[in-house]
Amino acid sequence: MQKVLVTGGTGYIGSHTAVELIEAGFEVVIVDNLSNSYADSIDGVEKITGVRPAFIKADCASPQDMQQVFTEHPDIQAVIHFAALKAVGESVEKPLEYYKNNIYSLINLLEILKNRGGHLVFSSSCTVYGQPDVLPVTESSPIKKALSPYGNTKKIAEDILADTIQSTNKISGIALRYFNPIGAHPSAHIGEFPMGKPDNLVPFITQTAKGIWPELKVFGSDYNSPDGTAIRDYFHVVDLAKAHVIALKRLIEKGNKTPFEIFNVGAGNGVTVLEIIKSFERATGVKINYTLTDRRPGDIEKVWADTSYAEKELGWKAQLSLDEALLSAWNWEKTIDKQSHAKAQRGG
Ligand code: UD1
Repeated sequence: MQKVLVTGGTGYIGSHTAVELIEAGFEVVIVDNLSNSYADSIDGVEKITGVRPAFIKADCASPQDMQQVFTEHPDIQAVIHFAALKAVGESVEKPLEYYKNNIYSLINLLEILKNRGGHLVFSSSCTVYGQPDVLPVTESSPIKKALSPYGNTKKIAEDILADTIQSTNKISGIALRYFNPIGAHPSAHIGEFPMGKPDNLVPFITQTAKGIWPELKVFGSDYNSPDGTAIRDYFHVVDLAKAHVIALKRLIEKGNKTPFEIFNVGAGNGVTVLEIIKSFERATGVKINYTLTDRRPGDIEKVWADTSYAEKELGWKAQLSLDEALLSAWNWEKTIDKQSHAKAQRGG
């Protein structure tokens, strides 16, 4: 059985990917510093798959911690690297934390892989396109100057990967540029549970539906879109998790002499914030109290993906609907008790 290290594996996308990896027959080792996630998600992974992945609490930005992980698990063949800070607004306040955390962790992993060999799937983001001039965006659309230090860490990471992979035949790699993953595993054993006030739309919607927050603020109603609210490409996190497994299998099959590749992963449709609210209300029967407010600084107006390259090369296409994603997010939210919410709002 091939052993895969999942960094950030107790987090939202990491835990869903751990499930898909185990179901595809991989052995999973999770590393996480639990700075924005809970070790409870490992229980969820075990409930779904019947297998408890190994877990090491460690910091990917620490070379000693990462050496230790590979000493304990010398047979790791591949890494899926999720561990990163991801709050756009916070990154503007604390740029050095973002550069230090997100860039050091990647460099540490690459240094280890360069010596011992291995495959790497990296979490990139559609943020690298900024506000595109032409929609939908393809992988060869222009990369714009990042609007935040967070976005810049993703762009720099892609460059570091490209340069490193071309310099050695010990590492092969794929970066997936995520659009907006939402939803939760249909079992409701794992899902998105941010610490503090959610930055992202869907956890804010589900927490508002639950009464944790009195209302959802819709950021901006004067965008150039059918209803004036901003457009994103939302897709189910389970589809995203499956994309990682497909990418990993491609790297394993092709061996280490393949060039670095980048794929867009999204549904391929642009959807407004108000359409998301309507879809949530339709799927769950729960009304959302919302008000239209000013734009959020740093937000772009619209972006959605051309996913034809991932379809052609990976045979991957998002399968699950928006309503399914939002219903699953709500079913997950309903499993979280009020005490856990109070704890999360205190920062864990
Ligand atoms: C952003 C980044 C993305 C990053 C993600 C991680 C960009 C273009 N995208 O996604 O790369 O991976 O954060 O956190 O920089 N909204 C509201 N009310 C809310 C919350 C959000 O109206 O309370 C709106 C936003 O203004 C936006 C949409 O919902 O139009 C989606 O927001 P969000 O879920 O935060 O994702 P992005 O900003 O697209």
